[in-house]
Amino acid sequence: MDKLLISGGVRLDGEIRIAGAKNSALPILAATLLTRDPVQVCNLPHLYDITTMIELLGCMGVQPVIDEKLNVEVDSSTIKHFSAPYELVKTMRASILVLGPLLAHYGEAEVALPGGCAIGSRPVNLHISALEAMGADIKVEDGYIKASVVNKLKGAHIFMDLVTVTGTENVMMAATLATGETIIENAAREPEVVDLANCLVAMGAKIKGQGTDTIVIQGVEKLHGCSYSVMPDRIETGTYLIAAAATRGHIKVKDTQPNILEAVLSKLEQAGADIKVGENWIELDMHNERPKSVSLRTAPYPAFPTDMQAQFTALNAIAAGTGSITETVFENRFMHVHEMNRMGASIQVEGNTVIVTGVESLNGAPVMATDLRASASLIIAGLVGKNETIVDRIYHIDRGYECIEEKLQLLGAKIKRLPS
Ligand code: EPU
Repeated sequence: MDKLLISGGVRLDGEIRIAGAKNSALPILAATLLTRDPVQVCNLPHLYDITTMIELLGCMGVQPVIDEKLNVEVDSSTIKHFSAPYELVKTMRASILVLGPLLAHYGEAEVALPGGCAIGSRPVNLHISALEAMGADIKVEDGYIKASVVNKLKGAHIFMDLVTVTGTENVMMAATLATGETIIENAAREPEVVDLANCLVAMGAKIKGQGTDTIVIQGVEKLHGCSYSVMPDRIETGTYLIAAAATRGHIKVKDTQPNILEAVLSKLEQAGADIKVGENWIELDMHNERPKSVSLRTAPYPAFPTDMQAQFTALNAIAAGTGSITETVFENRFMHVHEMNRMGASIQVEGNTVIVTGVESLNGAPVMATDLRASASLIIAGLVGKNETIVDRIYHIDRGYECIEEKLQLLGAKIKRLPS
């Protein structure tokens, strides 16, 4: 397994470009199953999860074609199987996103039931109950979700008990080809849901209210092909901004979208960062000052994202003062804390809150990545640590951060990959 070797203590300084958003590219690739016309998806990030989704489409008999600019054209007219096998679902839970499109377009789907993962139990009961409310017959048997519908799915009024991002996306995709109107209440308002909705609209879907907690979809007879460019990744953007802040550095991130990062930018300002934004760029300067601790609480968008919680824990670990971080979305998203404490951090876990008392600096150590965002936080900890840090199990990071060591090297970091 590859590892990352980081020699910490360098102030990051420079410019980087942000890739397309993983969490909107994945549902958009799944949405290509809703039409038999070719759909071109542009600005796809080069990530392991994207490769897995393309592989999943391929094993159904669909033929994604990748051009020299790494845009992907998906032509699902050759589809032969309507199933997502366990071998792929176990490596990427987002495979569940093919359930709604397959059921709506082909009337059947078999998707391995995703298990728990390093950050929580992550059930998919709300995906299933919403599709049942739309007329699907769903059984969970032999570790698989087996779904079918006679004729077509029917529009329904669905209230989501919890705000779920992929749950909202699955139901929204299914509703585009259902008969009549579907109303999703307590829908996720995440920008990635809006990006998917905009792609579906470009394919001929009738959707209103995306970005609010009530999404209304009028089913149409069929969808058509289109060319769609994925929005920038707000979590990648935030991760590099935090890495620069933690190292007392200066960074300009380009090809991003500042207006969808308000909660994160406001916490960085509280931490002492001087931030300037333009239409598609963000510049952060710490003027070589030590960051100040911040307190925060994760919650669905537009509140502070759970996917940025671990990175802020790393920032607080070396900041002046004490900050508390409360995780309300996932029940077990503090695995990075124990690794940071091994690097000399002073962090206590109390239920779903961590209390972080900042120390002057961390000591490099061998550490283990447990999930994607935890890996990013350990890299940040390594960048501010004295001596060398080796981050093991970085296959997690390759799932969600494109060329991370190259981008950090552009900012002056001393980081290299140690191949297994
Ligand atoms: N939940 C249920 N039942 C359901 C669905 C969700 O109880 O049927 C619970 C979950 O267990 C969790 C909460 O609801 O406690 C919210 O989970 P959600 O469904 O919103 O998460 P997700 O759709 O599985 C997406 C992102 C995650 C991100 C979360 C929260 C994708 C592919 N994944 O997951 O991204 O953390 O929303 O914003 O969009 C990451 O990129 O590192 C990542 C984990």
